[in-house]
Amino acid sequence: MRSTRIVEMLEVTEAAALAAGRWMGRGDKNAADNAAVEAMRAAFQNVDISGRIVIGEGERDEAPMLYIGEEVGSGGERIDIAVDPLEGTNLTAYGQSNSLAVLAFGPEGTLLHAPDTYMNKIAVGPAAADVVHIDATPTENIRNVAKALDREPEDLVVCILDRERHIDLIAEVRAAGARIRLISDGDVFGAVATAIEGTGIHLYLGIGAAPEGVLACAAMRCIGGCFMGRFAWRNDEEKARAVDMGTCQIDGVLDMDCLVHTDEAAFIASGVTDGELLRGVRYFGKGARTNSVAMDGKTGTVRFIDTIYRTGDEPFWVRMD
Ligand code: FBP
Repeated sequence: MRSTRIVEMLEVTEAAALAAGRWMGRGDKNAADNAAVEAMRAAFQNVDISGRIVIGEGERDEAPMLYIGEEVGSGGERIDIAVDPLEGTNLTAYGQSNSLAVLAFGPEGTLLHAPDTYMNKIAVGPAAADVVHIDATPTENIRNVAKALDREPEDLVVCILDRERHIDLIAEVRAAGARIRLISDGDVFGAVATAIEGTGIHLYLGIGAAPEGVLACAAMRCIGGCFMGRFAWRNDEEKARAVDMGTCQIDGVLDMDCLVHTDEAAFIASGVTDGELLRGVRYFGKGARTNSVAMDGKTGTVRFIDTIYRTGDEPFWVRMD
């Protein structure tokens, strides 16, 4: 059953979040990432799928676990899986907001094999999905989104990664009148937040990692909205490797159908540190509590899930949150 599959996969992101959360604020992003990767990989073995990692920790020669092409699961339905066991390693290491354990899945052959490069991205929620384009200028996109949301550009918040490469973008967004939420890391959150009212983010713009683009797009396919991208190659060698891998749209527009070629994708994220979308892991004497979102394009459901994991046999008071 589909709901069973969603819960099984939820346990995979919860396992990664529970492991990574222990490293919050400890200043060691690699340890946090390793903990998440190991826990996620182990948890996959309890799921009766024949899953293939299409977005993972890197190529086989550079990543021992959850590498691209690795088969996970105990056998069953053939699916494509995109993972980011710890999205925002620095956010966790320094106790900052919005680090997540994330995965997306879809039928075999439906998720783009995005190489380890950058992607120029735009994301917006359902109300403005038809009025933005990756090739339009930031000024045009801001003007169109403002109109679609029946506001002035001054009433919009654009989320952008705080990077040198975005100096011109930031200047143009400011000149267009919009407000900016600069984030130090974690653009899966930044993009997905545009489609969730209450996060206070209306538009996502800028260049981030390409694999994270596929994950964010999977969420947008489940809940509506627009995600569009274009690879931002760093050098010719990177581009040539992508051609060898058979990656499509080397220089073209990556629309939603190209990135996630199915209406039956699912996106699941568990909070590692507290954020606008999800709470981080909370540990207490006899257990821990996770907070997650599971979006399912197949059933059209979005579940916000609080899970309490009890360690040991002793009963304890369950508290409302
Ligand atoms: P981590 O791999 O450390 O989790 O970083 C995630 C991230 O901030 C993404 O959200 C973003 O797409 C990418 O890194 C940006 O890359 P860079 O730091 O090289 O600009």
